[in-house]
Amino acid sequence: MQKLLIDGKKILSGNINISGSKNSALPILAATILNNHTTIKNIPLVNDILTMLNLLKFIGLKYKLSKKKNSVEVINRNKNVNTVAPYKLVKTMRAGVLVLGPLLAKYKSAKVSLPGGCAIGTRPVDLHLFALKKLGAKIKIKNGYIFASATKGLKGAKFKFPSISVGATENAILAAVQAKGITVIDNCAIEPEINDLINFLKKLGVKIKTKGRKITIQRSVIEKKISHKIICDRIELGTYLIGGALVAKKLKLKNVEPNLIKKEIDILKKMGVKMKVGKNFIEVYKSKNIKNINIETNPYPGFPTDLQAQIMILMTQAKGLSKIKESIFENRFMHVPELKRMGAKIEIRNNTAYIFGPCFLNGAEVMATDLRASVSLVLAALIADKRTKINRIYHLDRGYEDLEKKLVKCRARIKRV
Ligand code: EPZ
Repeated sequence: MQKLLIDGKKILSGNINISGSKNSALPILAATILNNHTTIKNIPLVNDILTMLNLLKFIGLKYKLSKKKNSVEVINRNKNVNTVAPYKLVKTMRAGVLVLGPLLAKYKSAKVSLPGGCAIGTRPVDLHLFALKKLGAKIKIKNGYIFASATKGLKGAKFKFPSISVGATENAILAAVQAKGITVIDNCAIEPEINDLINFLKKLGVKIKTKGRKITIQRSVIEKKISHKIICDRIELGTYLIGGALVAKKLKLKNVEPNLIKKEIDILKKMGVKMKVGKNFIEVYKSKNIKNINIETNPYPGFPTDLQAQIMILMTQAKGLSKIKESIFENRFMHVPELKRMGAKIEIRNNTAYIFGPCFLNGAEVMATDLRASVSLVLAALIADKRTKINRIYHLDRGYEDLEKKLVKCRARIKRV
């Protein structure tokens, strides 16, 4: 199993190109089932994307991936389509469940493995199924699989999600695109990645309107040759911004859309982080006087749960007590015991972490447990004394493109063994 060896306390300086958003590319790839010829640009070359491409291939689509150009062409000839998402693929990547909506809408039936829980929580899919049932689907769960069918096709409907879910909103939109009539969905997630999916579907000719958390979709015929560029990965951007604030003389983050993380930029500025925000770049510099702050994760436009572990590292360097309330996932503090082994002073009570700073971190052997927990350990290792050994780094490869290469180019001492 591969490990990362990181020698901390090296001052970083240089440029980092931010990749396309993984969480935007995944539902857009699922949406290519609805079309016949799609080119997607700015695709991040990370393992979750390769798993999704494998799933599309299993279903019967063809793809040509250009690693040099970070682009992929996906072709659906509607021949030998297998409307199944098998356990072996969905278990490694929950976003596999996003093919359920488009398969059901287009081919009137689908068999998709239940994804099960994961390190950060139980993560049920009841809201996905709730939406599909509202659109007229018949759903059965048997042998670990969701069997969905709509023999006469899906029908437009008006409904409200009982709580907000990114994936369920995406699945509902992807199914509603081919449901007869008009669908109006309320209490939707409105993350920038959902907006990217909507913009992609609009290019296909789908009529979609959004107003606050309400999305209206009109059935559309959508077979067109189109090309779409994925938005920048706001979580990768936020991760390197925090990295820069911790250890960079000057880190220039390029190919970015700063408006995607306006709120996070404001929070970092409140914490005393110095940065220069341009039109498509952000420069960030190591900040000496980090101030403590309290934050709570929430659906967009709230603070993203996907940046919670990373900002905690900055909090360990802030003067005084900082608090983070995790309101999205029930088990997303798995990095805390590892950080404590590196010397961080953190207590967890219910769903709140209390971080007492500033504290000196020292290198240790630690274990990565999920994608964002893993990257928080990388950030901690960058400021720690001596060497940190991070085990189980396959989590990082699921969602961060060229992490070591990007950091090593900026003078970090990182080795994969
Ligand atoms: C997406 O997951 C992201 N994944 C996650 O990114 C992100 O953490 C999460 O949204 C929240 O922002 C992708 O976009 C591929 P949810 P998703 O459905 O859609 C509960 C990363 O590190 N829920 O919005 O699975 C659920 O348990 C990751 O890149 C139900 O109860 O998240 C959670 O408590 C990990 N029933 C809350 O809703 C359901 O049917 C929000 O989950 C669905 C969700």
